[in-house]
Amino acid sequence: MERNIIVGLDVGTTKVCTIVGVQHSSTELEIIGIGTHPSHGLKKGSVVNIAKTVSSIQNSVEEAKLMAGVNISSATIGIAGSHIYSFNSSGVVAIKNGEISQHDVDRVLEAAKAVVIPSDREILHVIPQEFKVDNTGGIRNPIGMCGVRLEVHVHVVTGSISLIQNLVKCVEETGIEAANITLQPIASSRSVLSSEEKDMGVVLVDIGGGTTDIAIWKEGSLIHSQIIPVGGNHFTNDLAVALKVPHAEAERIKINHGSVLAETLNQNSHITVQGISGTKSREVPSSYIAKVLGARAEELFSLIKEQLEEKQLTNEITGGIVLTGGGALIKGLPELGEYIIEKPTKVGYPAPFGGMTNIMQNPKYSTVLGLLLESCSTQNNNNSKINNQKFKEADIVSRLGDSLRSVFKEIF
Ligand SMILES: Nc1ncnc2c1ncn2[C@@H]1O[C@H](COP(=O)(O)OP(=O)(O)OP(=O)(O)O)[C@@H](O)[C@H]1O
Ligand SMILES: [Mg+2]
Repeated sequence: MERNIIVGLDVGTTKVCTIVGVQHSSTELEIIGIGTHPSHGLKKGSVVNIAKTVSSIQNSVEEAKLMAGVNISSATIGIAGSHIYSFNSSGVVAIKNGEISQHDVDRVLEAAKAVVIPSDREILHVIPQEFKVDNTGGIRNPIGMCGVRLEVHVHVVTGSISLIQNLVKCVEETGIEAANITLQPIASSRSVLSSEEKDMGVVLVDIGGGTTDIAIWKEGSLIHSQIIPVGGNHFTNDLAVALKVPHAEAERIKINHGSVLAETLNQNSHITVQGISGTKSREVPSSYIAKVLGARAEELFSLIKEQLEEKQLTNEITGGIVLTGGGALIKGLPELGEYIIEKPTKVGYPAPFGGMTNIMQNPKYSTVLGLLLESCSTQNNNNSKINNQKFKEADIVSRLGDSLRSVFKEIF
């Protein structure tokens, strides 16, 4: 029997993760394969070494394939990196026949896309926020409505053509078609946020290794997205410099003993740290480690707060802040975030679904699980099995188009 195999592939700065799922029905999805491998060819979310990235992807894919016992030919991949730039736009068209058709919706979305962007950039997503028919706003699906004027407000995500191509090239060198490309925080939002949170107004903050990815939702729509080039690696680097220890030792200390709240720690508590090779181990106060990590966290949260104020979104966020990504696991981060941003803050874990093991219920897998769900919804929309040949012949622009269509259809 032919099975509906779907794949999410997250090429992160610290790890590459592949998840293979079987879609039994439009609502039933089961995970059958997982492969995670350290990533070596990326810096701040962008590919800087093709060969190393290809090798990391290959290892992760092989592991997932072996576990699932199936072949993988295409995947939904995530994209981030500081080259991503997003903005809101709008478009207006006159309605020809008095009743709005799919064609009118396509035309108004085209109009909203018709903004001047630099020639080295590509539009990744055009996500409708609301439609307005004549003077009535807040409409999700205008098809079939009567009117003379159709307006749409959209969120547009753009990225550097060459950096997107580099990622696609790395994936395709492993023999896998990059069937869809999705902005990473959109994927993480899908696996972590509830629809109530997205309605109320929420900031998803995915703290990865190289970047922190932001997605702000209000009334169910994406109203802002942004990639900040500061991630968990910066916390580790700060610690390595402050303690004069190798990167690996700083990472161990951060994960096992790190906190960002120096005041809450026992002032007599000390951690044994191993210096650069040849030097003796020594004792460092836990509160000193927390001060170093806390300074970086404070910087990151202040930046997010500033962004909210600059975009005049502070009052929109009644659902609060949801931290996810591996970097969200440092102790005390939600408390510090709440104190600085002055909004309820928590760590968001991916919601469990079929066949998901305990290991996957970790914020560092939010993106890849979201990519799998994205892949699943694209399949539902296409209402067919993945047609590999179709993707082989498609160029990158039309693949981005697929992703765009899936987001658009999902909204309805
Ligand atoms: N238990 C933990 N406590 C603190 N930090 C952690 C923990 N587990 C992982 N991290 C940190 O999370 C970061 C990696 O997170 P994640 O796996 O989400 O990143 P990534 O997806 O590879 O990178 P990016 O999304 O930036 O491309 C690393 O900096 C790592 O040190
Ligand atoms: Mg990530």
